Amino acid sequence: MEPAKPEEPTTQAATEVKAEVEDEVTPFNIAAASDSGIDYDKLVDKFGCSRMTDELREKIERLTGRAPHRFIRRNIFFCHRDLDIILNRYEQNQLFYLYTGRGPSAEALHLGHTIPFIMTRYMQEAFDVPLVIQITDDEKFMYRPELSQEQVAKMAISNIKDIIAFGFDPEKTFIFLDTEYIKELYPNVTKVQKAVTLNQIKGVFGFNDSDPVGKYAYPPIQAVPSFCNSFPHIFGSRKNVPSLIPCAIDQDPYFRMTRDVAARLKYEKTGTFYSTFFPGLEGMKGKMSSSSLHNTILLTDSAADVKKKINKYAFSGGGATEQEQREKGANLDVDMPYQYLRFFLEDDAELAQIAEDYSTGKMLTGQIKQKLIEVLSTYLKEFQERRKAITDEDVKKFMEVRKINPVPKKFEEARKAKEAAEKLAKEAEAGAGAQ
Ligand code: TRP
Repeated sequence: MEPAKPEEPTTQAATEVKAEVEDEVTPFNIAAASDSGIDYDKLVDKFGCSRMTDELREKIERLTGRAPHRFIRRNIFFCHRDLDIILNRYEQNQLFYLYTGRGPSAEALHLGHTIPFIMTRYMQEAFDVPLVIQITDDEKFMYRPELSQEQVAKMAISNIKDIIAFGFDPEKTFIFLDTEYIKELYPNVTKVQKAVTLNQIKGVFGFNDSDPVGKYAYPPIQAVPSFCNSFPHIFGSRKNVPSLIPCAIDQDPYFRMTRDVAARLKYEKTGTFYSTFFPGLEGMKGKMSSSSLHNTILLTDSAADVKKKINKYAFSGGGATEQEQREKGANLDVDMPYQYLRFFLEDDAELAQIAEDYSTGKMLTGQIKQKLIEVLSTYLKEFQERRKAITDEDVKKFMEVRKINPVPKKFEEARKAKEAAEKLAKEAEAGAGAQ
């Protein structure tokens, strides 16, 4: 075996110095170096992604005939890989599909988990395209030493019900559990496993020699749902349908690897569309995480829980006293109530008014907190009502391997109109010939 490369940096002191100056963003950990949060501008360049542009936002509006989602308008989905190429194809009536996923590591989802699903739901509706959702029971069993397969299986079902409650189209959505659907994925998994070396996996994911071998084997499994021939019941014999993956930017290492391999396997490279992280209640330093209850709002929280958590734990960028707030106003960049409203308050004009009033001290911390409590309680109440109505039958339906038509209605109509026009032209020609 090759000797392990010396780890870098080698001393404790060096680690500390490095942690002070650099954000950490990996699929396994997110920690900002500064209190104002991750420097996303730097991250885009470090990862080599492309920034979102007004041109792309306008294109989305033009292609879908509606205002882009607030996450797009507010640059919460802020960078991408090849989104422009996918949109250009769509403009030419060429298919794409959406792919996203979830590792079942907790019984209840929290607000941070909702971001990619809300976005994916909007994109499915706006573009009328099929969606595959990977539930990585294998991943979480492997990466969480404390979890048994039985625990993961139970969380997976509960998470799938949560996911369905976001309102995905049952006609166009396929949800699959890795351990169940693996037979269909396996031919592609082995192709990827053959094309990627141990060194590459170590380089991208930073595993060490005492990690279980299953961790090294997993990234190809997250790669292959981005190849359309993993889903013959949706794409039939079509070979060149690219996927587009809406998710948080921490998943980029997987899809960098995936795109690299795709090129070598002569598959379409997946496109990606990345969001910033949803911060924890206590501040911008990390993302919301199930491991700290003070930091987290769960989708199962009651209105009373939400009120208590926001009033007690939400980090405020406002003045320490009413007088100070009136005089100096709030720092919106680190204020959790404001940051959360950016994610969840739909009305742009109202959000702009709040930003103006709160940053100049006209609005008080208690008032912005109250606004957030209202917005989130309403969102959670509606979500919980939909969630309550989801049955085991629904789960079965979404997970059934069944024929799904991948073609947007718009494309079908365009094709029919073209055929009708051609037929008319032919008839006219035949008529002219007969005379
Ligand atoms: N690794 C992801 C997690 O830990 C799960 C996942 C699988 C995923 N495939 C994906 C996330 C595609 C986003 C897009 O939750």
